[in-house]
Amino acid sequence: MSSAKNPAGSMWSRNISFVDGQLNLSGVPASQLAKEFGTPTFFLDEDSFRSRATAWREGLVAEFGDNAGHIFYASKAFTCTAVAHWVGELGLGIDVCTGGELAVALAGGVDPSKIQVHGNNKSESEIDRAVSIGVNTIVMDSLFEIDRVAAAARKHGKRQPVLIRLTPGIEAHTHESISTAHEDVKFGFSIASGAAWTAVEKIAQLPELELRGVHCHIGSQIFGTEAFEIAADRLLGFMAKYRDSYGAQLPELDLGGGYGIAYLADEVTVEPSDVFPTIGAAVRAACSKYSLDVPSISMEPGRNIVGPTMFTLYTVGTIKDVTIEDGSIRKYISVDGGMSDNARTALYDAEYSAVIAQRTSTAQAVQSRLVGKHCETGDIIIRDIQLPSDIAPSDLIATPATGAYGRSMASNYNHVPRPPVVAVIDGKARVIVRRETEADLLALDVATM
Ligand code: LLP
Repeated sequence: MSSAKNPAGSMWSRNISFVDGQLNLSGVPASQLAKEFGTPTFFLDEDSFRSRATAWREGLVAEFGDNAGHIFYASKAFTCTAVAHWVGELGLGIDVCTGGELAVALAGGVDPSKIQVHGNNKSESEIDRAVSIGVNTIVMDSLFEIDRVAAAARKHGKRQPVLIRLTPGIEAHTHESISTAHEDVKFGFSIASGAAWTAVEKIAQLPELELRGVHCHIGSQIFGTEAFEIAADRLLGFMAKYRDSYGAQLPELDLGGGYGIAYLADEVTVEPSDVFPTIGAAVRAACSKYSLDVPSISMEPGRNIVGPTMFTLYTVGTIKDVTIEDGSIRKYISVDGGMSDNARTALYDAEYSAVIAQRTSTAQAVQSRLVGKHCETGDIIIRDIQLPSDIAPSDLIATPATGAYGRSMASNYNHVPRPPVVAVIDGKARVIVRRETEADLLALDVATM
């Protein structure tokens, strides 16, 4: 019997153990979780979430001391009222990029002074609300927006702290759709083209705006710190230019999120302890190069905090042996979810792993494909995986590391109700997002027959 905690960096969160072949979360067996909550369901290791969030916050403080700004949890990765509440309680800030994410943060009791607002096309009403409640900062992403935020600040008689989102022109090694800071993208102001400087000059003319610093987000699922080190150097170089022109240094630098996690057994999740020493050294080196004081440093990890803390539990429904082009057999294993709860395989060719969660099997592993129940060929959760040949209907399948951009990108395609999220801690499980019902699916229809 094994109940050892999983090592840091693993694709399974730290309170997962395999006891006699059965997956347990915080001592609760997968078969019991499935019986109580049904499948598909996202199970969240609450202790792991709390410790990952705390490690980021404490790491920032340990590295930067008085110059530690905020860890703004990127709530797009996954948010709900309970999670927003934990984030606030643990002393982190929260990054929101829509009015909806802002509403959840507020419902979770997050202090507006700890909320940072992002987005490349914030609506006037989103801006108005953010300014009126006194959010920490609004990150400027276009010249239009600079005028809109200034107008809202004027209306509310406030001076709004803002950052400028810079595009430092770095290709971080990641899928194109999730890489955001090379030049040909919708986000930010390019440093190289001069657009960023135009934004600075515009903000400087608007007394309703207080320019507090610069921001970048160079991509997602990034391993290694080199790209962040280059970004820090380019942003600090920009801050030096500002100091030279305006005679005062901007006080804040936000390096965004993007820290990678393990989805497969041979990958290793980036830990905050891997990140801070190198980023700290890079920031200090660039500050001395440009004769700047070390500014207040903030970061916005999303995936790295929540990704490793959830797995999805499915039930196998049907199985089909299909002869493929090379004459071999591929076992198609269909589960009760699919691209509606995991869009990442279809969208980004993301790779996942899976295990039978409620029993051991000594059967030979065979080439398999894990698919969903949607009416679409591309409804694939795992394109290529070796699974035991004796896999059978009613087996439970767990896919690890589905906490980020899983439930948050879930859809109702084919009118499949979105799965619940169940938090488990100290052997106790509770629903923090309930399963959608047929009534939910019909709730928006207006029956004007
Ligand atoms: N800050 C900003 C401004 C961002 O745009 C993002 C993510 C983050 C922070 C958090 O990045 P993270 O630490 O989670 O990598 N749906 C894609 C990921 C899109 C990320 C968008 N922006 C996926 O499933 O891989």
